[in-house]
Amino acid sequence: MKFAERTITLKDGRTCILKPNSPEYAAEMIEYLKKTCAETDFLLRNPDEVNFTLEREAEILGNLLEDPYHAMMIALVDGRPAGNGSVSGIGEKRKIRHRCSLAIALYKEFWGLGIGTAMIDYLSELARGIGWEQMDLEVVAENERAQALYKKCGFIESGRRHNGVRFDDGTYHDEILMYKDLTK
Ligand SMILES: CC(C)(COP(=O)(O)OP(=O)(O)OC[C@H]1O[C@@H](n2cnc3c(N)ncnc32)[C@H](O)[C@@H]1OP(=O)(O)O)[C@@H](O)C(=O)NCCC(=O)NCCS
Repeated sequence: MKFAERTITLKDGRTCILKPNSPEYAAEMIEYLKKTCAETDFLLRNPDEVNFTLEREAEILGNLLEDPYHAMMIALVDGRPAGNGSVSGIGEKRKIRHRCSLAIALYKEFWGLGIGTAMIDYLSELARGIGWEQMDLEVVAENERAQALYKKCGFIESGRRHNGVRFDDGTYHDEILMYKDLTK
């Protein structure tokens, strides 16, 4: 979906722009997916599982820009992508269509500057505007940084999925389930 651009000031004084992601960033998003997946084990994809062509990535970003039930937000610092976040519906069936799901990842060099907080605040506003009542996510149990961010942004832990993810080294890791009440 399209939404208004927002400018924030980071903890280091730099300016960051939050705006809808779009096909013009297709090449940078492929690079971003590959690098962020390599920088942390806490994202679902492994780097070798990023195999979108430029055309396909541009098509995906174009479709999401026109989708009224998907907000895909890019964060730009000095004109360069620092990260991406999205909120999308869980499903269209009436019993679950009050819920949406959040995903976010930044390049490591941009961690700890307040971008995550600003993106989740803005994505929550957009989700409320769409009419969703609850935002859900899963986070790897050892991902303390992300859980600290989510709690700060109003998420509450609601459960734990045993062995939700398996790393390539053969180790299994639980996932923590979290939700945010968007009606408050
Ligand atoms: C998780 C992530 C999005 C956080 O974004 P961020 O911009 O670094 O977050 P913020 O700078 O807004 O910081 C959020 C809070 O977490 C706290 N925090 C930072 N590092 C922490 C750590 N190692 N342990 C605990 N808390 C930590 C900070 O104190 C901060 O709160 P404050 O601003 O009140 O001090 C980012 O680190 C990232 O992209 N990580 C890799 C991908 C990932 O794990 N995505 C989530 C998958 S579920």
